[in-house]
Amino acid sequence: MKVLAIETSCDETAVAVIEASGEHIEVLSNVISSQVKLHAQYGGVVPHLASREHVKNIGHVFESALKEAGVKDFKKEIDLVAITRGPGLGPALLVGITFARTIAWRFGIPLIGVNHMDGHIHSNWLEPDQPITAIFPALNVIVSGGHTELVLMRGHGEYRIIGETLDDAIGEAFDKAARMLGLGYPGGPAIAKLAESGNPDAYPLPRPMIRSKNYHFSYSGLKTAVLYLIRDLTQGSPSSSDSSGLPIGLTDRQKADIAASFQKAAIEVIIAKASRAARDHGVKAILLSGGVSANTLLRERLHQASTELGIPFFRPAMKYTTDNAAMIAVAAYFQYRNNPHGHDWKSVQMDANLTL
Ligand code: KG4
Ligand code: ZN
Repeated sequence: MKVLAIETSCDETAVAVIEASGEHIEVLSNVISSQVKLHAQYGGVVPHLASREHVKNIGHVFESALKEAGVKDFKKEIDLVAITRGPGLGPALLVGITFARTIAWRFGIPLIGVNHMDGHIHSNWLEPDQPITAIFPALNVIVSGGHTELVLMRGHGEYRIIGETLDDAIGEAFDKAARMLGLGYPGGPAIAKLAESGNPDAYPLPRPMIRSKNYHFSYSGLKTAVLYLIRDLTQGSPSSSDSSGLPIGLTDRQKADIAASFQKAAIEVIIAKASRAARDHGVKAILLSGGVSANTLLRERLHQASTELGIPFFRPAMKYTTDNAAMIAVAAYFQYRNNPHGHDWKSVQMDANLTL
């Protein structure tokens, strides 16, 4: 069956078409219009600007996705429409939801509302490099700009959150640390790049909650430690920050060393907690997902940890790590397969604070 999905929860306007049958998923198109440049000048996503851009772009992105997928007759060829209903920015989500409800109504096609995190989990089903079978119960390690979660998965849609962040998400910490170092938004890729030339053991940064008995995380302390470290290193400089608060007393070497030390600390907590959770719950696979799953060091370290535990490890192909609509289409497909009835367009509602 063909599924068309729309994703507008944050700053990407995305539409995708997949062909799905059994466990096999083929991506026919995956179009993304990013607003990163617009929001970069504000240092983060501005919700009302995001929604305005979604309205501006969604029509073109929709047409491109259909064209690329070779869909000529929407009503005849598309079997299911999927839309992200939350979590995310309310004004941004509403644009996609309104558009999706309209096309589902216009063409009389079932509509499914998808949890964005369920989408990230299912990015692992898009072009996997090994067959993704016999994996349940699986441990999902979800790391993004808004979430840091360990989720047990017994089947598609059967989730139990066993650990989550008590304050900042890991991606948010990357973005804030990047800002303190005067790097652009989004900060994750910028920190990772700079860390390549830095010494990860240069500065002893904290690994918050690494020894706590639960599976929860906390990233605000690590962020504050970076702030104090920068303050200490720049003390004695004629002026330690410019008019916008960016540090100017740091050398390039110090910046690279801070990026590398921060990245190592942030990732070590994930590895420690995920390994313990996998062992304690006897899982058959570990699945990484979310925007921060694009981080090469995290991918390598979690792969290594899984190998040591003798558990298969899956991570999304790079192009599916950050927000996209193909992952939303896959989550909707499995939801539909479990229950093909009652997916009326009127019943799909927004829930900006949806949890798994
Ligand atoms: O999943 P996503 O696209 O949006 C949310 O649902 O939050 O994740 C975006 C987050 C941002 O915080 C960004 O800095 C982070 O993912 N990110 C990375 C990398 N690429 C993106 N963090 C660390 N290393 C990366 N290479
Ligand atoms: Zn996301």
